[in-house]
Amino acid sequence: MIQTVQINGIETIVKADGEQASHAVADLIAAQVHRKADSVLGLATGGTPVQTYRRLIEMNRSGAVDFSGVTSFNLDEYIGLGGDHPQSFRVFMNEQLFDHINIDPARTFVPDGCAADVAAHCAKYESMIESAGGIDLQLLGLGHNGHIAFNEPGSPRDSRTRQVDLTPETIEKNARFFDSIDEVPCHAITMGIATILDARQIVLLATGAGKADAVAKMLEGPVDESHPASLLRNHDHVTVVLDQDAAGGLRLD
Ligand code: PGA
Repeated sequence: MIQTVQINGIETIVKADGEQASHAVADLIAAQVHRKADSVLGLATGGTPVQTYRRLIEMNRSGAVDFSGVTSFNLDEYIGLGGDHPQSFRVFMNEQLFDHINIDPARTFVPDGCAADVAAHCAKYESMIESAGGIDLQLLGLGHNGHIAFNEPGSPRDSRTRQVDLTPETIEKNARFFDSIDEVPCHAITMGIATILDARQIVLLATGAGKADAVAKMLEGPVDESHPASLLRNHDHVTVVLDQDAAGGLRLD
């Protein structure tokens, strides 16, 4: 089953496996940068985008894509972790992508988890995105509970970059990146749902059977804040890229 279908207005691409899905997402990002050399990309962390980033590194090395004009904004960061903490999303991005491509490090932005005044920092992050001209393409993963970035169930449709509490489920899921669950921060800074929906194009990647239920609710369930990813159906340019396992819960009728 390899196909592109429209599900409730969302272009949904189903690939045979995670590698092919990740490469398809890398191609979409590269196409955006080809169209506009000074693109503003919204980037994501987590296990899901790693293969996409690996592919973009290969493409950059072979000359297939040039990031020298690109600006990036990451979705989120743990509160309390500085940008040099090994589990910070800043370090993740440096290691998984930025250190290996020709992007200008000064134009890669990740929220500061140690900001003294979090509310002021969040407001500044919003204004920096606006000053950069807005996000051209936002990459997203999908939480098992339907979260996008750290917008947990119940996050308001009109939410902006802000401090949030992580759910026990998210803390447990992310414990795999830490030595123990006690080290996982309970709070984060995240772009809001409205911030994400302001992006001109959104590409969501989900792989593996563990995401099948969240994918089905996102595309075929009610559009509701209880499943934040379903709110993407309010946007007119979203592409969802799945492997067969993540597509396993779809009716596709
Ligand atoms: P994952 O997380 O890529 O590690 O599965 C996705 C998310 O929670 O957004």
